[in-house]
Amino acid sequence: MRLTVVLRGLAILFTLVTTWLFASTYFHQVSTKSVNLRSWLGSVDTQTKASKVRNKCGNRQSCPENTFSFKIVSGAANVVGPSLCLEDTVFMSAIKNNVDRGLNIALVNGTNGHVIKMGSFDMYSGDIKDLVTFLQDIKQGSLVLIASYDDPGTKLNDKAREMLTELGSNYAGKLGFRDSWVFLGGKGLKGKSPFEQYLKNNKDTNKYDGWPEMLEIEGCVPRKIG
Ligand SMILES: *[C@@H]1O[C@H](CO)[C@@H](O)[C@H](O)[C@H]1NC(C)=O
Repeated sequence: MRLTVVLRGLAILFTLVTTWLFASTYFHQVSTKSVNLRSWLGSVDTQTKASKVRNKCGNRQSCPENTFSFKIVSGAANVVGPSLCLEDTVFMSAIKNNVDRGLNIALVNGTNGHVIKMGSFDMYSGDIKDLVTFLQDIKQGSLVLIASYDDPGTKLNDKAREMLTELGSNYAGKLGFRDSWVFLGGKGLKGKSPFEQYLKNNKDTNKYDGWPEMLEIEGCVPRKIG
């Protein structure tokens, strides 16, 4: 009988010891895992930091010292507003709530990149005189960023088309009802701007029901244009 009690006691002790060993090993593993998890999170942090080294305006390339980074996105159909960005500053966008159907235009000082004036011009039911007055006031050495939204063309007249052409546009003469258009030009620019895209509203090729695809241009524009 006494031997049985001793053996039972040893068995209990054995169980306790192995449980403790198991538990300590297990918790040791858990704590190792939590360390690993932390270092894993740490590596995620590093990756996030690395991806934060992004180019201005979210562009694919970074720009040389003597240039401005820019990105211009047209509106998508009559649903998503356009956006105009220069040197990481979004001048106009749906989020900033300062875009409208028609032509969205930002005038920027070509030397320091500061915005001079912005405007949205309704080209479907607005007064074309508002756009002509806005374009007449542009000073030499200004950059002009333009994005279409919904309808950039219906109200355009010869005078306005000519003024946009003088800013370096290749397509201002053709711009019509519900075309997509993005453009960066300048007052005093000699020749045509390389920063422009245009898509005609054509029901056979339109991406959306009544509108062509939205357009986007980005790049580096030399400072002090013209
Ligand atoms: C641009 O800013 C400079 C000062 O940085 C000024 O001298 C120049 O007149 C401005 N140009 C325009 C077109 O506003």
